Amino acid sequence: MDRGQNMRQVTGILIGAGLRGRKAYAAYALAYPSAFRIIAAAEPDPVRRRAMAEEHGIPEEYCFEDYKEVLSRERFADCVLVCTQDHQHFEPVMTALQKGYHVLCEKPMSPDRKEMLLMEKAALENRRILSVCHVLRYSPFFRRIKKLLDEGRIGELVNIRHTEHVGFWHFAHSFVRGNWRNDKEACPVIMAKCCHDMDILLWLAGSPCRKIQSFGELSFFRQENAPEDAPGFCMENCAHAGECPYYAPRFYLEHPKAEEDHLVYAVSEEISAGKVLEQLSSGPYGRCVFHCDNNVCDNQIVNIEFENGVRADFTMSAFSKDCFREILLMGTKGQIRGNMEKAEIIVDDFVCGDSEHIKIHTPKGGHSGSDMAMMQEFIGLVSRDGNGKSMTDVSVSVDSHLMALAAEESRLSGEVVDFKSFRAGSDGKRSISD
Ligand SMILES: NC(=O)c1ccc[n+]([C@@H]2O[C@H](COP(=O)([O-])OP(=O)(O)OC[C@H]3O[C@@H](n4cnc5c(N)ncnc54)[C@H](O)[C@@H]3O)[C@@H](O)[C@H]2O)c1
Repeated sequence: MDRGQNMRQVTGILIGAGLRGRKAYAAYALAYPSAFRIIAAAEPDPVRRRAMAEEHGIPEEYCFEDYKEVLSRERFADCVLVCTQDHQHFEPVMTALQKGYHVLCEKPMSPDRKEMLLMEKAALENRRILSVCHVLRYSPFFRRIKKLLDEGRIGELVNIRHTEHVGFWHFAHSFVRGNWRNDKEACPVIMAKCCHDMDILLWLAGSPCRKIQSFGELSFFRQENAPEDAPGFCMENCAHAGECPYYAPRFYLEHPKAEEDHLVYAVSEEISAGKVLEQLSSGPYGRCVFHCDNNVCDNQIVNIEFENGVRADFTMSAFSKDCFREILLMGTKGQIRGNMEKAEIIVDDFVCGDSEHIKIHTPKGGHSGSDMAMMQEFIGLVSRDGNGKSMTDVSVSVDSHLMALAAEESRLSGEVVDFKSFRAGSDGKRSISD
């Protein structure tokens, strides 16, 4: 069914036709053409720009090399999707809001606290939707858990244990060899990967954060852990290919997730074995995992106390077979156990002793259907010219981003961070009004 029924067609501009922009969000326009149409795109990479133009039928004069060009024009669409890299969200989001566009912004909004707060202010002042891609809130899995909590199925919520198993292969791809390996070029992993988790914990706890504390480090993917004779690139006849879990050709050519999760497209637009191997022989994704310029933590834990007394602990680790999230919610009358990979939730009732096993039906890929569900909400809001509220509205997203930044602050300082002071900027750091 076309979700565009009874809705006017929304028009949009895509900024950054990369993995997220083109493959995750622009795909919504192809699936639901009467609801959403992308009429312009900005992308410096000519191959990606051409692919975008062909897939969406965008005429040459509406294909731009830089977001500055498209946003320098008078407003000519309803919304803008900002899907550039982490450091390149602030400027296009601010310009688009000031021009009157509704905006969907990839997470993290910005690695910088002041920029996030300015984005929030601009959205509120211009009365535009600024929705942030915290896609997990839209997943059938977490929606069901939230519903169970709201129904009081486990009484009063007291504790949450939440684990993000990143997957050894996914971690090596994104956080050792890839775009999010170094916090100077992107941002700390607790922000890049785990602002989703901070957001989910904030949502499920149902209360603002009061205190936050964190420990973590880059334990394994370091130069000193390289076997003595390991070359700079796996394909330079590495003698350890057979025993190394991180041997790049094996992952990109054999692991089902490499294609399913679009990771191989980061290596090469054309994914024939020949092209992929050509890129791996000298490109960033072919590097030995011990010889990269990475510095982000490969394991980190966070303890959180919320204002309503709920306490949560969170673990992020590179060292798991699969990439998935697992959660345990402990309440006064029961507990909820959830495994996102298995799409399974178990509700244990302390009174009658029963356990209800719930199997969640989730689409394959796209964060288990979350990407499309988030787009559906955003396009619906835009079609009503912003009438309504996004589940991942800017203000709530600023809070979850700031929790990630506060956790990093604690990891580096060894101190427990008081969240209210941190948000207000009264912890010795500059505030928005500086
Ligand atoms: N919501 C999620 O779950 C999720 C998952 C992965 C990544 N992300 C975030 O999505 C964003 C994009 O990630 P990606 O993997 O698609 O990266 P990507 O590198 O594949 O895409 C970014 C695109 O922006 C383009 N670009 C660069 N400069 C530009 C300019 N001046 N004007 C227009 N386009 C420009 C690049 O050429 C590239 O194609 C990042 O911020 C990332 O952290 C979010």
